[in-house]
Amino acid sequence: MLSAMSFDIHGKTALVTGAASGIGRETALALARAGASLVICDVHEENLATVAKEVRELGRSVIARRVDVSDRAAMKAFADEVHHSIGAVDILVNNAGVALSGGFMDTSLEDWDWILGINVYGVIYGCHYFLPPMIERGRGGQVVIVSSAAGYTASDMLAAYSTTKFSVLGLAENLRLELKQHRIGVSAICPGIVDTAITRNTRQRGPTAGSAFTEKLSEFYRKRGFGPDKVAKAIVRAIERDQGVVPVTPEAWAFYLVKRASPRLFERFAVMAGKQARRKFSV
Ligand SMILES: NC(=O)c1ccc[n+]([C@@H]2O[C@H](COP(=O)([O-])OP(=O)(O)OC[C@H]3O[C@@H](n4cnc5c(N)ncnc54)[C@H](O)[C@@H]3O)[C@@H](O)[C@H]2O)c1
Repeated sequence: MLSAMSFDIHGKTALVTGAASGIGRETALALARAGASLVICDVHEENLATVAKEVRELGRSVIARRVDVSDRAAMKAFADEVHHSIGAVDILVNNAGVALSGGFMDTSLEDWDWILGINVYGVIYGCHYFLPPMIERGRGGQVVIVSSAAGYTASDMLAAYSTTKFSVLGLAENLRLELKQHRIGVSAICPGIVDTAITRNTRQRGPTAGSAFTEKLSEFYRKRGFGPDKVAKAIVRAIERDQGVVPVTPEAWAFYLVKRASPRLFERFAVMAGKQARRKFSV
């Protein structure tokens, strides 16, 4: 999905959720370097304060708040405060997210509530509370939703996570059509394996549950060596060029293209990849 719309980040205000770590942190800093003022939130207050300091050191203003994106009342209060003090944001990056490993049969209803609350409702609240003033102001804008290669790749080891990422990819594609009339572009970022803290914070269920799995997974992500700064670059490019669906990392592109070319071949490949991963990470 390429579009002729181009967007200048300089002088704009950008909101990034989950900005205390990984892709969110790097995106906040990349947007600050590109000349944006920042509004950032996260549940990890201490790391968020460090990122706020780094943004200020880049010469940009920043509002940083402890907000749980899955808490509807907290998101409403956050939006009210932001709109009251600086008005509508120009760029909305829905990035905060968590992971859960395991199949459907390994996943409890409490797990579903937790992951849907953050990965899906968090994005819905972000869009619900921050989009109307952006539309009303009539100056256009850009929305980014951080999905995943798991947003178009089924995996029997990531049933709930993958479901949430398919969901927000769908939301992004729908919003993209609906917001065109307001000159607001929407992109879905779909990274593959990126070396961040997400592996250490993943809830583990089923056969892979255990701290040895965390260690093996983190080591695998670290060795893969694709840093969150590269995803941030892709996010900045997606905003500037209004790119739509954006796979990031070579494996994310490979899954994307193979699935489009041959869904059957892709399924065989997904079964093989699942078996291989279970062997590699079995504890
Ligand atoms: N790392 C990867 O390989 C990868 C791949 C594809 C997609 N993603 C997606 O990228 C996004 C960022 O993940 P990351 O890899 O940078 O992980 P990360 O753990 O480094 O960062 C996630 C941030 O979100 C915050 N967060 C978690 N729950 C929150 C909540 N309820 N409210 C507010 N903030 C909350 C965390 O405190 C953390 O600072 C996620 O949506 C993730 O699903 C990551």
